[in-house]
Amino acid sequence: MPAVAYVNGRYLPLAEAGVSVEDRGFQFADSLYEVVAFLNRRFLDWPGHLDRLERGLSELAIAGVPGGAVLGQIARRLVARARVPDGLLYIQVSRGAARRDHAFPAATPPTLVMTARPYDFAQRAAQQRTGVAAITRPDIRWQRCDLKTVALLPAVLAKQAAKVANAFEAMFVAADGTVTEGGSTNFWLVDADGRIVTHPADHRILPGIARSTLMRLARDAQMQVVERPFSLAEARAARELFLTSTTAPILPVVRLDDAPIGTGTAGPVATRLAALAWREIERQTGWKPPPG
Ligand code: PDD
Repeated sequence: MPAVAYVNGRYLPLAEAGVSVEDRGFQFADSLYEVVAFLNRRFLDWPGHLDRLERGLSELAIAGVPGGAVLGQIARRLVARARVPDGLLYIQVSRGAARRDHAFPAATPPTLVMTARPYDFAQRAAQQRTGVAAITRPDIRWQRCDLKTVALLPAVLAKQAAKVANAFEAMFVAADGTVTEGGSTNFWLVDADGRIVTHPADHRILPGIARSTLMRLARDAQMQVVERPFSLAEARAARELFLTSTTAPILPVVRLDDAPIGTGTAGPVATRLAALAWREIERQTGWKPPPG
């Protein structure tokens, strides 16, 4: 199956695509990215991803990136060339390639890379029924986790620790005991009163697109959602714990550091939200998870 790339105006097979060793994404992680799901060749929550990218570019003062209409056109062409209906589109933008110097280079165009590759969303539907395990790791990241930069080393280390522990995800816990988010996901719990709780969208977390979609769906269904920080102790004692991201629209977390959460099975709130999330995916893309 062909994975394809777009690099600064050219469409290429992934294996032939590359950027300069002087690229600031490589040298300094001076770079932002987005991961967008496509199902039936249609993008999920495209406007939300675009808004987040544009906000990041503006916060980091990376100029000269094509606007949303052009990015959308490139993305659609790439998906057509990928010849698979369902997958992930990666958009990566760096401040460009220039002689190594920390301060911004003058008059350097940004680097724009996009790739499209297949992804199996059906496996997530199956995992929703069983739930997944997570481990806890200290949140050693910087103070601007709201920016989706490629400076992902803390997430890389945490997710490797999760893999070694046979867990799906690592949950970041700040020094004050607050659960911020996962290595590449947002975390939620269901408290003793049945309220759905997740960390506010501030500088300590990435404002997930799946997070905001799920919040809207839950509120539309008259479920109570509270944005407030919660502690690791609350997470361990929660009725239910679950996570969201583009690659896992919602997954129950049924074990945390080898202790069960709630009944140790996928709970009713996560199961109901999963049904709402798949219905929304179907509404936007026509894609349905296989029955199981
Ligand atoms: N990760 N928090 C972090 C730290 C993330 O890296 C991600 C996304 C999320 C969820 O965001 P969204 O709902 O927009 O996917 C939360 C992507 C998928 C990745 O790095 O692969």
